[in-house]
Amino acid sequence: MCGIVGYVGPRDCSDVLVSALTKLEYRGYDSAGIAVFENNEIKTVKTQGRLKDLEDKLKKVGKPEGHVGIGHTRWATHGEPSDVNSHPHSGARVTIVHNGIIENYIELKEFLVAQGRTFLSETDTEVVAQLLDYKYNGNPLETIDSVLAELKGSFALGIMFKDFPDKVFAVRRESPLIVGVADGESFIASDVPAILQYTRDYYLLDHDEIATLSSDGVSFVDEHLQPIEKELKTADWDMEAAEKGGYPHFMIKEINEQPTAIKTTIMPRIRNGLPCLEECGITLEKLREFKNITIVACGTAMHTGMVGKYVIEDLARIPVTVDIASEYRYRNPIVSEGDLVIIISQSGETADSLAAMRLAKQKGATTLAIVNAKGSSIAREADMLIYTLAGPEIAVASTKAYITQLSVVYLFAFELALAKDCVSEAECRRLVSALTKMPEAVQYVIDNCEEKCKYIATKLVTADSLLYIGRGLDYALSMEGSLKLKEVSYIHSESYAAGELKHGTISLIEDGMPVISVATQTDVIPKTISNIVEVKSRGAKIILVCTDACARGLKDGVADYVIEIPHSEELLMPITAVVPLQILAYYTAINRGNDPDKPRNLAKSVTVE
Ligand code: F6R
Repeated sequence: MCGIVGYVGPRDCSDVLVSALTKLEYRGYDSAGIAVFENNEIKTVKTQGRLKDLEDKLKKVGKPEGHVGIGHTRWATHGEPSDVNSHPHSGARVTIVHNGIIENYIELKEFLVAQGRTFLSETDTEVVAQLLDYKYNGNPLETIDSVLAELKGSFALGIMFKDFPDKVFAVRRESPLIVGVADGESFIASDVPAILQYTRDYYLLDHDEIATLSSDGVSFVDEHLQPIEKELKTADWDMEAAEKGGYPHFMIKEINEQPTAIKTTIMPRIRNGLPCLEECGITLEKLREFKNITIVACGTAMHTGMVGKYVIEDLARIPVTVDIASEYRYRNPIVSEGDLVIIISQSGETADSLAAMRLAKQKGATTLAIVNAKGSSIAREADMLIYTLAGPEIAVASTKAYITQLSVVYLFAFELALAKDCVSEAECRRLVSALTKMPEAVQYVIDNCEEKCKYIATKLVTADSLLYIGRGLDYALSMEGSLKLKEVSYIHSESYAAGELKHGTISLIEDGMPVISVATQTDVIPKTISNIVEVKSRGAKIILVCTDACARGLKDGVADYVIEIPHSEELLMPITAVVPLQILAYYTAINRGNDPDKPRNLAKSVTVE
């Protein structure tokens, strides 16, 4: 995700900005840039690529010499990674850096174009720069305030006005931003690590508050432009802890980042309430051609495929086969021209998935990659590409990559169903609107279920083995829950279609064996409950993850522990239901003394067979 920095003080501003940006590299980026006041003019240098490329460019074109400036590392959302799309962006009298997504940028851009404004980049950020310039009345705070009233979405902004060469302004809504202070100097940054080498003292900016940084120090106003006093905080983290944003492990940090990750992934792909994947090379005309779909992937990414099968078949009425990449590549699969093969991969470098994709291409299929790592091999070689915009996933156990893969699969399924005339435009809009509510629903689950999951995890520590069961989408999700638990806790676990238990697996049930049941799909809940009763009567301890509606109808004693999640559009329930399963896995690992970020024997990117 993008990183923002800013500086006002006696040091060489360009050096401070680049150095601070290196501490935000862990957030992931594809381009970088800085803008610094030099002799009262704003001088901007930016480039696609790494910070090393920016440093080379600064040497080549000359480093801006000054003491006030802003800097940025960009993780592309609107528009491809390129020099021109890199930040900072400018209007005639304003230069800004931005993290987040302006949801209504198209409307705002149309308005500005109608006023005769022209744009250089494809970014939503340039729209904000131009809007600030359009509304500029000589008073920066009033100008920012009036632009805030127009913006929808999440954002953090670092802003410089040409007429105020000794100042940097900062504002945020939902996206993170802190203001660091030291003797005679001040900073803005997306995260604490960026400022730790200069100061440990910082302020947390609240939504719509505006900070002004100048050589006199830092001041704040609220959304009514009234001056406010803020509490100074002191970071007591070391650099490593700071990169984890204060969380003890990357896994739990990444679980907490999921609401933002979903939003960042879906919002740029929605136009006028409908999915829009044109930028990814996907059009309604193209989608109409496909008669068969195969989803090929490994591990967690394959589990996304399992959810995808249920959703695509249900909505678009096209047969979907899900295949494990290491099996597919050696099986002489039936695939030919006119088929679509979807490859899902966080790293984009998984050897088996890459080989499977090459095989599918060789056999004439069209390939679509759903990938998180920018510029990875699978991303480069696929015919069509949708990036999940989860940001870098550091913990080995995949969490936010999975949830963003699900989000993309849903958008794709909605668009496909529309292309195949299986849903009306109105129904498609309704589904898209339900998807846009999922970040909030996931946040609710994180806020309300963590303590319960933490408690239940204490009951799992001594288990030798456990089962995950569910039906339909809940079964697809159980696979992911089971994998998550086993990979970080090292407890043996299996997932089963609940109705399949009686055909053999029920013989494993013995006194005290934990069975985690997922029940979010109304039409099969009574069936799942019967399966729960069967295993419970044989001594299983039942942990039930179900909707609040289901929980209300439960008879006493059916489950030993119930984790309730809010009921939302049923097709989308895996997005919220996976969260307690991830948290359960995390705390079980912790209770067993394991490092959940680096489970034994596992690698983040499996680039060998
Ligand atoms: C589990 C996990 C793995 C990966 C699998 C595929 O938490 O992370 O199962 O999902 O190794 O990796 P990618 O998605 O990089 O192809």
